Amino acid sequence: MRHILVGVSGASGMPLAVRLLTLLQGMPNVSTHCIVTDGAAKVLREECHAGPEYLTSLADYAYAADDLAAGPSSGSWWRRNSNHCAMLLVPCSMGTLGALASGATRNLVQRAADVALKEGLPLVLVTRESPLSAIHLRNMLTLRQAGAVIMPFSPGFYLHPQTLDEVLTHACGRIFDQIGLAHDLGRWQGVS
Ligand SMILES: Cc1cc2nc3c(=O)[nH]c(=O)nc-3n(C[C@H](O)[C@H](O)[C@H](O)COP(=O)(O)O)c2cc1C
Repeated sequence: MRHILVGVSGASGMPLAVRLLTLLQGMPNVSTHCIVTDGAAKVLREECHAGPEYLTSLADYAYAADDLAAGPSSGSWWRRNSNHCAMLLVPCSMGTLGALASGATRNLVQRAADVALKEGLPLVLVTRESPLSAIHLRNMLTLRQAGAVIMPFSPGFYLHPQTLDEVLTHACGRIFDQIGLAHDLGRWQGVS
């Protein structure tokens, strides 16, 4: 069983989080855990006209962002859930990025990501901001050097997507590639 923790923070891109959790839900041998920050709840209301339960209902397990005593806050929880754990932070706000880069974590999304880093477990940050300040860029470099994958949501157009859903699905496939999760969501095959 592969345990995937999906952290959702308050950046624009909630439809991507919804698509990602929906796809994970349909995968065999994958167990999903979800944490939604207060900031994410606000953006979700704007972008999907829904409350946080819309996201958490798509996961097998959900944790409150202010519950720093919940399992994902500790390295032993990650280890108990086997060495096949990974965390996807989708979307990752610049606020959460900054907290992670400084190590001053304040909620369960930040703490869980901090634990993933210290335990050397896969952590993918799907960042959403433009343009980027020197502070954002420095934070990204710091986290890359600490072992995280920095993966700005950058749609590919080479598969000729016709709908937003196709754009999101392709992006999810590329995120799954980063943690070695097998999928059949489309991949560039080259031109020759
Ligand atoms: C509608 C809306 C869209 C936002 N989009 C972004 C964004 O794309 N990137 C970002 O870094 N912050 C964005 N923010 C600001 C964050 O939500 C805010 O900094 C928040 O405190 C982040 O907290 P969190 O990381 O704990 O969720 C947005 C806020 C709102 C209300």
